[in-house]
Amino acid sequence: MIRIENLSKDYKTVHALKGVSLHIPKGELFAYLGPNGSGKTTTIRILTGLTIPGKGKAYLNGYSIQTDPLQAKMQCGLVPQHINLDNELTVSENLDIHGRLFQMSAKQRWQSIEELLEYMELKEKRRALIKQLSGGMKRRVMIARALMHRPKILFLDEPTVGLDPAIRRKIWSFIKKIQGDGTTIFLTTHYIEEAEFLAERVAFLDEGQLVALDTPQRFMEKMGKWALDEMKDGQIHTRYFNTRQEAQNSIHDQVNGFSLRRVNLEDVFISLTGKKVAP
Ligand SMILES: Nc1ncnc2c1ncn2[C@@H]1O[C@H](COP(=O)(O)OP(=O)(O)OP(=O)(O)O)[C@@H](O)[C@H]1O
Ligand SMILES: [Mg+2]
Repeated sequence: MIRIENLSKDYKTVHALKGVSLHIPKGELFAYLGPNGSGKTTTIRILTGLTIPGKGKAYLNGYSIQTDPLQAKMQCGLVPQHINLDNELTVSENLDIHGRLFQMSAKQRWQSIEELLEYMELKEKRRALIKQLSGGMKRRVMIARALMHRPKILFLDEPTVGLDPAIRRKIWSFIKKIQGDGTTIFLTTHYIEEAEFLAERVAFLDEGQLVALDTPQRFMEKMGKWALDEMKDGQIHTRYFNTRQEAQNSIHDQVNGFSLRRVNLEDVFISLTGKKVAP
């Protein structure tokens, strides 16, 4: 469904992408993780036709983004990293404008708006101005807007940033529902537990290059089952073990505090990219 071959992108002196290749089959929920500035948004912008690629090729549902850009664009919906709804318009007006941009007829737009307001539980907000909505509501409208033209692929660039844990989980259930309806999903997030919970496969990007790709489960198994965080000299040192007993036996006497916990995907992120997760 998504095929990327050796894709690169330079912004003057910045090498934002350095030859990324990926194949994501139909219906997969794929997470694309990496530190700030690693090239996630650049990849999404290229695939959705917002930025011209450098070298390499990419296909969405078989359509080349370079030689068939309009058809490629029709295949995908985008929820961008930053909220870009029209604040002075209502929820349904924002959806309607998107439908017009995709040349949907009045009837198609009306039908799609009705279905999506229901689907995203926004019915009572149809006449609310965007500026009157909470952050969680706006994110839901962004997802509804991206689905207006019934894309086969949905790009979600940090769809839950800044949302409280309950609303974030609500968005997760919508994402699962959209995937359940057959849509291929390409997700970026800094909430690593989101990828752990949602994604079938995860790729880690670092400084414009793919460093690893696997299922969340296999990534975590490779680290060990238990993580021991120890506070020493003002810093956290983490070590990994296969059994709880091994971890307990190795707790140092001189530590100021420790926590023994199950390994999670954030440990994988830090070990692969060598950096802390962005706040
Ligand atoms: N329009 C632009 N002009 C110049 N440099 C850019 C532009 N857009 C992105 N970059 C640079 O390209 C690199 C990749 O940026 P990108 O936005 O793709 O990262 P990201 O992985 O999405 O980061 P974040 O997690 O912070 O959203 C960064 O070094 C960034 O500064
Ligand atoms: Mg980004």
